[in-house]
Amino acid sequence: MNYLTFALAKGRLADQTMALLEKIGMPCEEMKEETRKLIFVNEELKLKLFLAKTSDVPTYVEYGAADIGVVGKDTIMEENRNVYEMLDLRLGKCKMAVAGFAQTAEKLRQSHHLRVATKYPNIARDYFYHQKRQTVSIIKLNGSVELAPIVGLSDVIVDIVESGRTLRENGLTVLEEICPLSARVIVNRVSMKMQHDRIMEVIDKMRKIRKEEERCSQ
Ligand code: PRP
Repeated sequence: MNYLTFALAKGRLADQTMALLEKIGMPCEEMKEETRKLIFVNEELKLKLFLAKTSDVPTYVEYGAADIGVVGKDTIMEENRNVYEMLDLRLGKCKMAVAGFAQTAEKLRQSHHLRVATKYPNIARDYFYHQKRQTVSIIKLNGSVELAPIVGLSDVIVDIVESGRTLRENGLTVLEEICPLSARVIVNRVSMKMQHDRIMEVIDKMRKIRKEEERCSQ
């Protein structure tokens, strides 16, 4: 039997995904240890798991280095890779939004000379150019995007809002909502053919567990 290889996005989502894999009977004990190892193997179940930088997960899956990936919808949209998006895990729910100072709302509605700072230039471009038909300048940043309007680098930002705390504590607010986000399961297109039954079994089990968890938390 071939290995079934999972690419997980480093960080909180990886922990949640590991917990989910354990619940569907696919534990990877090795991964719980404090280690700097990047890839983990469960020989008995012929599983491999590796942790990758979030934005690289769709790339590993597109090229078949991983059969299955678990990553946020924001990364899927931004990277726009040729993969199947199979399941919404409804974990890590948050939203993509345009945010800024409340007094920028008017400028956002009317101006065609806005500067937009973001870690997600493709999502921002698609939203402003194609959905709103508004020409803006997009400035790519790599983190702490909320700083941009505060120090005058941009008028607004396009970023993830989860609790809203970062915006609130910096005097900023959501001006427009772009879309809801959550973690998704993505699958390599060839793996989907070659390991169809095995992959579908994993996805069905994940779907059932998530439904049960949601029912219990209501
Ligand atoms: C994310 C996002 C926001 C913040 C939103 O940043 O880019 O800054 O979390 O969360 P909140 O609404 O709960 O405050 P992250 O922590 O990934 O850091 P970064 O901006 O440096 O990438």
